Amino acid sequence: MNPILVALDVPDLARAERLARSLDGYVGGFKVGLELLMSEGPESVSRIAEFGLPVFADAKLHDIPNTTERAARELAAHGARWVTAHATGGSRMVEAAASGLNAGAEGRKVGVLAVTVLTSLDQTDLETLGMSGTVQTRSVELARLARVAGAEGVICSPLEVASVKALSAELLAVTPGIRPGGFDQGDQKRTATPVEAVRAGADFIVVGRAITEASDPVASASAIVESLRSAAL
Ligand code: C5P
Repeated sequence: MNPILVALDVPDLARAERLARSLDGYVGGFKVGLELLMSEGPESVSRIAEFGLPVFADAKLHDIPNTTERAARELAAHGARWVTAHATGGSRMVEAAASGLNAGAEGRKVGVLAVTVLTSLDQTDLETLGMSGTVQTRSVELARLARVAGAEGVICSPLEVASVKALSAELLAVTPGIRPGGFDQGDQKRTATPVEAVRAGADFIVVGRAITEASDPVASASAIVESLRSAAL
């Protein structure tokens, strides 16, 4: 199974579809994030779902349970396989997201991926926010909450994935913050290479700019697949 979920972080659907068409066959799924959801609406999810690969709607829901449930239902009705919700919204909110997804999916398999600690935050940021514990302990606590609330998986950085898998092997661990050797960190702080992330236990790796901003996105995706194959992952 190809573990790459490519983040289609582009301003419009035409560009997203062009990228998706070229990467079809080189990645395991597509992520439609806030940029596309804001510019094109949930229609962007259904259009990208037409390629036949799983679509991960990275809406990062965080609202009262009733609103979250309704938003999740819409995204599932538009073909999302996974929808993200912030675990910090609490267990009732994550439960509501899962219930909304199932209502919208009409029997299709769907699931919530609960965001633990954003990969753009480090320990100092957590302290500034007045949050106790380390990034590691907090990610695991939020993963535990998400699992009990019925999430199918969590989003965490590659640096916490082993601890999350130790908590629950069944909980999907999806890791952004992926930086193939030499690629600029940008705004991400807790990063690893594709091989490091998968070796640590990631079920899926989210890769955005390292593919989409490469001069040859297909070559970049193929190089990641090849690096995983050479590492026997
Ligand atoms: O370009 P890059 O590979 O850094 O993109 C990472 C993608 O993963 C972005 O679309 C971002 O919104 C998303 N993401 C993240 N950290 C999280 C959850 C999602 O970077 N905790």
